[in-house]
Amino acid sequence: MSKGLFLSFEGIDGSGKSTQARLLAETLRAAGCDVVLTREPGGSPGAEEIRALVLQGDPDRWSPETELLLFTAARRDHLERTIRPALAAGKVVICDRFADSTRMYQGRSGLRAQVDALHDTMIATEPDLTILIDMDPVAALGRAKARATAEERFEDFGLSLQEQMRAGFLALAQEYAHRFRVIDGNRPAEAVAADVLHTVTDAL
Ligand code: ADP
Ligand code: TYD
Repeated sequence: MSKGLFLSFEGIDGSGKSTQARLLAETLRAAGCDVVLTREPGGSPGAEEIRALVLQGDPDRWSPETELLLFTAARRDHLERTIRPALAAGKVVICDRFADSTRMYQGRSGLRAQVDALHDTMIATEPDLTILIDMDPVAALGRAKARATAEERFEDFGLSLQEQMRAGFLALAQEYAHRFRVIDGNRPAEAVAADVLHTVTDAL
């Protein structure tokens, strides 16, 4: 069975992950690659239903433990129905956020050990390469707020969470240095995209 390639984008809200994931997918498709562009939370019908539960409503809608279980349930469905079949078919999977987001966001309130335990038993999959788009939290929050969607549960946690997550992602990039590459997102999208492509072709 041929084995595909699993790429993820990580970073704080508004850092440009979705934009860069889309641009990379377009470039790789133009070069003849079979690409599945997907996202978390979501990426399969069941996981998209869970997405609405975790991203909409009051910031304190769920306890930290329940929230962790919901994100993990969504990821398990996404993995079973979208990611694994695509990789088994030899495709390139580009995922806008994956388990590193759970390590950061759900791990932030002292739950990192539970995050890791649940990941090991239920997910046990890491991307081949993770691009961290590093970004000034004030500018990123401005971009994210300008979008004005209903999915603002996390954005409502505000600047202090963005700052904490930025530092956390940079630390995570050191912890998993073999698969992480950090790219400066404080530039025009085309310049960031050129770096992303260079990094992906270099690493592979
Ligand atoms: P994320 O997925 O990380 O939240 P998005 O790709 O959705 O970020 O970008 C957030 C907003 O900022 C969007 O409106 C997008 O068009 C805009 N944007 C993305 N990249 C850049 C960039 N390099 N410079 C300026 N604006 C950007
Ligand atoms: P996303 O749609 O990627 O938002 P954005 O484009 O603004 O970055 O993700 C929405 C929120 O979900 C984001 O604030 C981070 C949060 N999240 C978690 O808390 N845990 C997770 O495992 C994932 C995948 C996302």
